[in-house]
Amino acid sequence: MKIEKNYNLSKLNTFGISARAKFFVEIHSEDELQELFVLSEFKNNQKIFLGGGSNILFTEDFNGIIVLNKLKGMEILNEDAESIVIRSMSGENWHDLVVFTVRRGYWGIENLSLIPGTVGAAPMQNIGAYGAELKNVLENVETFDTATGIKRIFSREECKLGYRDSIFKNELKDKYFISAITLKLSKIGEKNTSYKALQEHLEKNKIEVKNPKDISDAVIFIRQSKLPDPKVIGNAGSFFKNVFVKKEQLQKLRADYPDMPYFEEDGVNKIPAGWLIEQCGWKGRRVGNVGVHDKQALVLVNHGGATGTELVKLAKKIIISVKEKFGLELVPEVNLI
Ligand code: EPU
Repeated sequence: MKIEKNYNLSKLNTFGISARAKFFVEIHSEDELQELFVLSEFKNNQKIFLGGGSNILFTEDFNGIIVLNKLKGMEILNEDAESIVIRSMSGENWHDLVVFTVRRGYWGIENLSLIPGTVGAAPMQNIGAYGAELKNVLENVETFDTATGIKRIFSREECKLGYRDSIFKNELKDKYFISAITLKLSKIGEKNTSYKALQEHLEKNKIEVKNPKDISDAVIFIRQSKLPDPKVIGNAGSFFKNVFVKKEQLQKLRADYPDMPYFEEDGVNKIPAGWLIEQCGWKGRRVGNVGVHDKQALVLVNHGGATGTELVKLAKKIIISVKEKFGLELVPEVNLI
């Protein structure tokens, strides 16, 4: 384990922002993690645990320690005729885990194909896409208390998973290092094609879903046609969260904007932030080195050479226009550092 100083982070965040960290270290095993916890560079500094860097925006140099998670390994813990329990270390790439399960014909995370980032980031924000959420299959999350080094396993309930949210983003922020997760998947076909864009794609292409790979392939196709590849153009997926409104507020808004799309979830209504941003005229617009993606307005992009501050300025302008036009408050999904 080697602690590096004044480390350039530009290759470690999908926005491709150039920022430096006072200290940087890669962790390959649980033993190394224990060694790290007692070092003064760790104990006496602010810390960020980094996975794929796909949900973070550096707005300045980081005056603390960045811990890059490289814990690897996936294993089947047990199975019966109907289900299978799989454990994955947190430094694995999320999509690699999806491929591992889809190839074997297990149902549960195929709708979450191609989500950038690591396995450890998945419970952090309860990743969700195309009608599925991690919370539907998560069994538990293994962690280490970074102050004491003691291992603690959180059950799904204890993780308090919500829309792009968990206990690890709130009351336990930065207190635990997520080392592994365990999922329970199904061996019996339980396809989830409820999401409109997915359903339309399957119908249009006359795809009859027989196995999880059929769904995975469809999701990959839709994502690639809408979302920019960070290897080509810097971005962090959705920059903002969708907006939740009460029924009365939705009715008022729809009286003014009858075309406003919305989804009902757990008794609350969600308005797609991408639609709000597009209605304010931002879709495809470029301001200096930064801009709004031309196929999905929820995604902000680095056209090259952008700073984190430029992106934050653009985000603020977008927040103001949406507030002025609709009276709704956009909240970033990306973590701003
Ligand atoms: N829409 C527009 N204009 C746009 C984008 C969206 O009008 O530029 C409207 C359309 O009506 C569309 C609706 O918004 O039908 C929903 O769009 P989409 O299916 O692309 O989903 P989303 O709500 O914009 C969420 C997630 C994505 C995830 C997709 C698919 C959030 C913040 N984002 O986006 O997650 O891939 O659903 O399930 O919940 C991410 O988190 O990085 C991410 C990409």
